[in-house]
Amino acid sequence: MEKSILEYETVALDEQGGSVLVLDQTKLPGRAEIIRLHTAQEIWEAIYLLKVRGAPAIGVAAAFGIYVLAGQIAQGMGQGEGEEAFESFYRKFREQKEYLNSARPTAVNLSWALERMDGVCRQGHEAGGSVPEIVESLGREARKIKEEDIQVCRAIGEQGLALVKPGDGILTHCNAGQLATCRYGTATAPIYLGQERGYHFRVFADETRPLLQGARLTAYELYSAGVDVTLICDNMSAMVMEKGWVQAVFVGCDRVAANGDTANKIGTSVVAAVAKHYGVPFYVCAPTSTIDLATPTGAEIQIEQRPAEEVTEMWYRERMAPEGIKVFNPAFDVTDNGLVTAIVTENGIARAPFTESLAALKNLSGK
Ligand code: MRU
Repeated sequence: MEKSILEYETVALDEQGGSVLVLDQTKLPGRAEIIRLHTAQEIWEAIYLLKVRGAPAIGVAAAFGIYVLAGQIAQGMGQGEGEEAFESFYRKFREQKEYLNSARPTAVNLSWALERMDGVCRQGHEAGGSVPEIVESLGREARKIKEEDIQVCRAIGEQGLALVKPGDGILTHCNAGQLATCRYGTATAPIYLGQERGYHFRVFADETRPLLQGARLTAYELYSAGVDVTLICDNMSAMVMEKGWVQAVFVGCDRVAANGDTANKIGTSVVAAVAKHYGVPFYVCAPTSTIDLATPTGAEIQIEQRPAEEVTEMWYRERMAPEGIKVFNPAFDVTDNGLVTAIVTENGIARAPFTESLAALKNLSGK
C-alpha cells in the first residue's frame, strides 16, 4: 500500500546528525520527496523557497540547521580548547544564526528557535563546556524543540476541540496542518483529534492564493486522513458562511503581537472580517512560542513581500497577467484583535483583553 503523506516527517535530522531532512512541500501533492540539506545556503533556501514552511516547522528546521552548521564549524576548528576556541566557534555560530534568521521575517518561531539554540551555546560555555560538548547539547536541544512541537500541537488540539461540537463545519485558511508542524498541525489539531473520536467534522479548506497551501497541502493532508474536506476558492468563504455551513474558523498564526493582533497567511484577515459579519467564531491556534510579547501591536510586525511571479505566472501554463503589470504580493496580513474570538494555545485559551490573557499564558510556558 502507498505510504500516506501523514506518515512522512516534515523535518528530521539524519542519523549521523550531519544534515537536515525535509519533505519538499513545493512538490506536493504530486510527489513526496525528501531532500537533504547540508550547507547554510541549502537550509536558507529551503526555508525561503517554502520547501519547509509553516511557523513551527520553520523553527524546527532552523534548530536542526544551526546544529548541523555548528558541527561543521567545530570540525573545521580542529582540537582547540579554552576561551579562544569558544570565541572563534561562537563568532561563526552567530554569523550562521543571523544568516538563517534572514530567510523569512514574519514567523517569529524562526528567531525564537535560533535564540533558544544561542542560549544553549552561552549556557554551555558558562558551565565550562568544551566546544564539542556544546555542539552535543545543541543536538539535544534541537531534538527537544521538535518533540515539544508534537506535544504542544496535541495540546492545542485538545483545547480547540472543546470549542466545537460533533458534526460542525470548520473553515481553515492556508496550511496550519501537520505539514506546517511536526505532527497534528495547529489549526488542524482539533480536526485530527475530532477525527480520532468520531466527531465527523465537515471542513472547508481555502485554496489560499497565491501559493495554494490550502489546496496543495491542507486539502491533501486532511483528505489523506479521511476527513470530510471540501476545497473552496478564497473568495467563497462568505458564501459558505452565509449558508450556515461553518460553525467555527480555525487558522494558524506566524506571530501574535502582545495586544492579540495576529499575522497569518495573506487573506486570513478577510476570513476574520467575514466570520464576524456572519457571527462565526474566529479562532487563532498558536503555540506560545508564536506569541511575541516584544511586539506591541500588529503594526510592528514585519510582513514578508514575495516575488511578483508567484501571482502572475506560478501554477499557470502561460502567464496570466500583462507583462510589466504592477503586483503587490505580501505573504501575510494582520488580523485585528477585535476580529479574533480567541487564541488557542497549548496552555489554554486567551480571550480579550488579550494583553493580559496572552502574557499570562506565555508566562506559563516559561520559554
Ligand atoms: O508562507 P507559509 O506557507 O509559511 O505560511 C504559513 C502560514 O501562514 C501558517 O498558517 C502559519 O505559519 C501557521 S503554521 C502552524
